[in-house]
Amino acid sequence: GTVVLAYSGGLDTSCILVWLKEQGFDVITYMANIGQEEDFEAAQKKAESLGAKKVYIEDLRAEFVEDFIWPSVQGNAIYEDRYLLGTAIARPCIARRQVEIARKEGANFVSHGATGKGNDQIRFELTCYALYPEVKIIAPWRIPDFYNRFKGRTDLMEYAQKHGIPVPVTPKAPWSMDANLMHISYESGILENPKSQAPVDLYLMTKSPQDSPNTPDELEIEFKNGVPIMVTNMKEGQSKTSPLDIFSYLNEIGGKHGVGRIDIVENRFIGMKSRGIYETPGGTILLAAHLDIETFTMDKEVRRIKQGLGIKFSELVYNGFWYSPECEFVRHCIAKSQENVEGKVQLSVFKGHIYILGRESPKSLYNEELVSMDVQGDYDPCDASGFIRINAVRLREHNRLQGFSNSN
Ligand code: ARG
Ligand code: SIN
Repeated sequence: GTVVLAYSGGLDTSCILVWLKEQGFDVITYMANIGQEEDFEAAQKKAESLGAKKVYIEDLRAEFVEDFIWPSVQGNAIYEDRYLLGTAIARPCIARRQVEIARKEGANFVSHGATGKGNDQIRFELTCYALYPEVKIIAPWRIPDFYNRFKGRTDLMEYAQKHGIPVPVTPKAPWSMDANLMHISYESGILENPKSQAPVDLYLMTKSPQDSPNTPDELEIEFKNGVPIMVTNMKEGQSKTSPLDIFSYLNEIGGKHGVGRIDIVENRFIGMKSRGIYETPGGTILLAAHLDIETFTMDKEVRRIKQGLGIKFSELVYNGFWYSPECEFVRHCIAKSQENVEGKVQLSVFKGHIYILGRESPKSLYNEELVSMDVQGDYDPCDASGFIRINAVRLREHNRLQGFSNSN
């Protein structure tokens, strides 16, 4: 049979490629460019030299931003109050194209290099099954023949040497990384001890706030339908308007000022806790700006319901259910809530922080006259007396009952 392998160019997936061939498969390798730093040409050559029947390198950056990052911005998606889901939203994006390729190539199998202990295997495979129900999945790290043979990195290196797989010359960082446009995550290795502090040179997307500039950057972000359509640097006057340019520019500014670093222990879907370090510079700026324009333009009660849906959305995405009836339903509701989320937010980015400076919107529900301390507006203060007394009915009864039972 033919298998489409999600290939990273690294040691693990190179060994998987050769191992799959050993098992009798024709192997098509597939690499998704979702904004990670990577020499795609070198990886292509490597895959070809290892006997890949065909090599796909797909630039998914624009669709990653528009189809996955933007809905997350609309939902203020955040897992366990802190994690902005940079890896979780990348997996359905990568797997969606993978099964497209598999269908096109008439391949019945797909394969990936995720471990058997993590979230990524679930996200990959649920997406594959949802979009290509007949597909068969080969997850080598869950196959005893494979994982008993490759117990550690030295086994992989030995196998590589024997099979003409170029062995990495630079020593591997003592942790695992996952990088894309949205974020870089760091976990395992020396980070597994939750008390061990991250080395200062771990971060690749953001400067330390300690070394960041002593003058802020001031940005204006314009939203429509709850997603940014323009970002302007207010001092330099330059603007970005395409989704990819907007997000890349926010990464640049956030990175320069040390925005979006977190160090957390999180709950994996599988049931265990894991320690992770993340940097999400652009995503962190957008969350702050979006929360601001949303509150400014959205009805109070709609906002409360929508906030709950955002939590649900985040859990579904974390757990790998991007392509599920419930997640599609929730995304649809969230998108509906964003119809009037429109306008401009001015903010400053400085020393790891985002400071909101002001906002304006044609769809604002803010009524300056109504809220003003200086004018009456369409409002009768006498009404507040009844409103408060009615709300007090329950409180007074509670006190009376307490008082009654206390005296018994
Ligand atoms: N713990 C994070 C998550 O589940 C990051 C996973 C990182 N994945 C990786 N292959 N290094 O989303
Ligand atoms: C992996 O297991 O491949 C990385 C960690 C995770 O998916 O949670």
